[in-house]
Amino acid sequence: MKIAVFGTGVAGRTVAAALVKLGHEVVIGTRDPKATLARQEPDAMGTPPFAQWRAQHVDVALAAYAEAAAAAELVVNLTNGLGSLDALAAAGTRNLSGKILMDVANPLDPSQGFPPSLNPVNTDSLGEQIQRAFPEAKVVKTLNTMNAGLMVNPGRVAGGEHSVFVSGNDADAKNAVTSLLRSLGHQDIIDLGDIATARTGNDAAGLDSAVGCPGNARLQFQDRPLRRRQGHGCIAHRVGLSRAHSRVHAGRHVRPEARREPQGCHGDAGERAGHDRPRNRRPHP
Ligand SMILES: NC(=O)c1ccc[n+]([C@@H]2O[C@H](COP(=O)([O-])OP(=O)(O)OC[C@H]3O[C@@H](n4cnc5c(N)ncnc54)[C@H](OP(=O)(O)O)[C@@H]3O)[C@@H](O)[C@H]2O)c1
Repeated sequence: MKIAVFGTGVAGRTVAAALVKLGHEVVIGTRDPKATLARQEPDAMGTPPFAQWRAQHVDVALAAYAEAAAAAELVVNLTNGLGSLDALAAAGTRNLSGKILMDVANPLDPSQGFPPSLNPVNTDSLGEQIQRAFPEAKVVKTLNTMNAGLMVNPGRVAGGEHSVFVSGNDADAKNAVTSLLRSLGHQDIIDLGDIATARTGNDAAGLDSAVGCPGNARLQFQDRPLRRRQGHGCIAHRVGLSRAHSRVHAGRHVRPEARREPQGCHGDAGERAGHDRPRNRRPHP
């Protein structure tokens, strides 16, 4: 497939390289290709300049957002969350119209110090903002709850026994994204519902930044495989940040056999506490 990956940071590079390995034709989108290639210094997070990475990935093209989107069948948004709407506006409504727009960005706002806050949060989300701004695009929010390394190599944590979520209004677009996620190695893909459910992933993203990603933490929430529990429990329990039984795997592997089963989260206790299965949750085929 022809895929445009918007974003020259760690996440854009990681996802682009993985998609090329899978045989896709990938072009990375940026504001100004010449300026991006001319950068010589690492960024504020210590990420080496893009040109250095590109020298080892000559099969990945680089283009301005509009050119990258024009040729693409699917666009992946891995731009800085605060600049995502600008990046997509630069791509142009026409170049996004009718296309799947896989949004992985988190709207992290560092202006008030560390950890960054999320803006928007709770009553809105970046995924919804993008869908409103580009109504003809088929926005699917996914992968934003995990570190870039884990996005493309889910087996790095607990042998891949963890979940990834998709939110979006278009069923076919979610199916296509689900296939792409499977090809990256994700096994447990949960359709949360329409694009408004993208708000839930924000919470996980906030914890991710508080723990110190990007860096080398491999952050994921997990208890036990959800497919064994279809019809029971609740997603909030599984990704909830304040639940004692939620597991955060940061910078280490956890052998599945070493994991303790969580107490009272999916069964009676959780349901008694009013955390029943969300109405719009559908285990994805
Ligand atoms: N890193 C991770 O592990 C991880 C995990 C989960 C989610 N994410 C999300 O993935 C996204 C990318 O993260 P990252 O760490 O790789 O890189 P980043 O530094 O957050 O973003 C870099 C990209 O954003 C673009 N950008 C920034 N401001 C822009 C603006 N005003 N208009 C247009 N483009 C703009 C840059 O464009 P230029 O190329 O022109 O400089 C660059 O391509 C973020 O939204 C992040 O929250 C990252």
